[in-house]
Amino acid sequence: MIYTLSGIKGGSGRSTIAEHLTVWLAKSGADILLVDADEQGTASDFTAWREHTLDGNVGYTLVQLIGANLRKQVETMKPKYDHIVIDTGGRDTTSQRAALIVADVALIPIQPRSHDVWTLSKLTEMLGEIQASRLEPLTVYSFLNRADITSADNREAAEALSSMAELGFVPHAVKNRKAYPNAGAKGLAVFEIESPDQKAVSEIDALFNHITHGSLISTTEA
Ligand SMILES: Nc1ncnc2c1ncn2[C@@H]1O[C@H](COP(=O)(O)OP(=O)(O)OP(=O)(O)O)[C@@H](O)[C@H]1O
Ligand SMILES: [Mg+2]
Repeated sequence: MIYTLSGIKGGSGRSTIAEHLTVWLAKSGADILLVDADEQGTASDFTAWREHTLDGNVGYTLVQLIGANLRKQVETMKPKYDHIVIDTGGRDTTSQRAALIVADVALIPIQPRSHDVWTLSKLTEMLGEIQASRLEPLTVYSFLNRADITSADNREAAEALSSMAELGFVPHAVKNRKAYPNAGAKGLAVFEIESPDQKAVSEIDALFNHITHGSLISTTEA
């Protein structure tokens, strides 16, 4: 399966979720390729810190691929891996579109803040163009990231997201927790830390179980 972390708002959490999904999929022994498709190189920096922390045993393969070539190169590499995770930058770029064309599943983290919610109509426009140019439809999952701890505060953003069917909103929020930047600074996922934040571990499990089992799709089909 090819997953891309997408969206057109900077800082929404794409890299954090891409890193977690990569490590989460790899921990069961699957062969994972993490594609850093952002010039900023956050996924590459994370991997460099991980190499340092884990004495080189990061548990997945990292490549940097930018631009229109990304699609062809990912297609070439696809047979060699069980799953591919692509981390894109937060703008409507050639890399972002190439990732959305080659992927099976797009994951879109959204912060429950007005400036982020305002980007949703531009995002659905871009996704509409992508869907129109694909042979097979792209499965899209959006979810709240850096959500407030009290769920009432997230309601408005959740309602806006669920009103746009093309965004495939899933009600598994990742909340705003220090555990994410703290683990990331060492190149680790929240579930790899000694004495982990159990709430962070549970919410990541819930989100990824939902996404990887495709329960949204099966519920719709049932
Ligand atoms: N759930 C969370 N709780 C707390 N901090 C978070 C959470 N998710 C992400 N962050 C922090 O928010 C910042 C932005 O996250 P991240 O780099 O993952 O976003 P991005 O969408 O990849 O950004 P960019 O547009 O720069 O690529 C980072 O400092 C990260 O540690
Ligand atoms: Mg990023």
